[in-house]
Amino acid sequence: MGEQKDLPFPYETKELDPEEEELININLGSFPTSYVKLGPKGYMVLKPYMKDAANIYNMPLRPTDVFVASYQRSGTTWTQELVWLVANDLNYEKAAEIPLVQRYPFLDGFMFFEPEKKELYADIISETADENFDREKYIQMMEFLGQPVSPLLAAAPLTQKRFIKTHLPMSLMPPTLLDTAKVVYVARDPRDVAVSCYHHARLFKLMGPLNGFKNFWEIFYRGLFTLTPYFEHVKEAWEQRHNPNMLFLFYEELSKDLPASINRVADFLGKKLNEEEMSRLCDHLSIENFKNNKSVNFEEMREIGVLAKGETFIRKGKSGGWRDYFDEEMTQQAERWIDENLTDTDLRFPTMK
Ligand code: A3P
Repeated sequence: MGEQKDLPFPYETKELDPEEEELININLGSFPTSYVKLGPKGYMVLKPYMKDAANIYNMPLRPTDVFVASYQRSGTTWTQELVWLVANDLNYEKAAEIPLVQRYPFLDGFMFFEPEKKELYADIISETADENFDREKYIQMMEFLGQPVSPLLAAAPLTQKRFIKTHLPMSLMPPTLLDTAKVVYVARDPRDVAVSCYHHARLFKLMGPLNGFKNFWEIFYRGLFTLTPYFEHVKEAWEQRHNPNMLFLFYEELSKDLPASINRVADFLGKKLNEEEMSRLCDHLSIENFKNNKSVNFEEMREIGVLAKGETFIRKGKSGGWRDYFDEEMTQQAERWIDENLTDTDLRFPTMK
């Protein structure tokens, strides 16, 4: 094999305007890691991302690789478990034994942790921490999760099929991605995504308790939250949906007809399920079972006291729950924002047809 030459990383970074910084501060006041805008679309990456951005862009790929990609809170975990089980001939024992986070290295996950600021993070968390907050374990966890996984992925034995989770848009991934590897991308109505992101930020105690959803929505739709602008992210994947190595799914389709989505995944991966297998898989993937599934629900983090009471990683699992959060003004404003963003594309969410 010839030596692969690295491509130059093609994107520049731009600092945020003071007014944007101010808005983010109001909403994510206690969040100590800063953002920078990356590339022509201005994707909001957390600054630590830049330490591995070029390596990710150049990561060596294998034809057996399967990526599960999404904008966060779009049903990634659900899709990951579905894809993994179908690809691994429904090996439920192994799925229970090895946590999903180990089965799927999270390509860009390190950017959410800044080991250099671990003490600061620990201070913030301890302000609202439960009695069982374990500072030492929390700091160890930050150090571990703050490490890029691209070296680990490169070192995986060639006999091992790699499953990779990412929230990166296609343009930040290797340009030859779809020539080599398979990608399952899942998208969701942005209003439900925003509500889910808001609860997620609360779960990890990254927002002040007084900051309501209305403020959060503003930074989300204005493209000032992590890895927004949202529509650019989704459109980049949508444009590739006819590529035989891309499977584009909607959360709303999984919700409405899970067997149909499972069959699409199975076709994509060259697998077939009989009726009994289908029924067991649907049951395994139900929201009720997911909530109690220790391999996917992140509840082990609660043991060290870092998760907020009243919030869970696997939450409502509903489509259209946003209606309980948007007042009339926000509803109209969201509709205008969606319409504007759909003028130059045939992308339509199942909830918007
Ligand atoms: P809600 O917060 O709206 O409930 P991600 O995995 O990308 O972070 O997405 C999380 C969202 O998917 C959460 O949405 C979560 O509850 C939902 N979800 C996770 N597992 C699910 C399942 N088995 N069925 C339906 N929704 C699920």
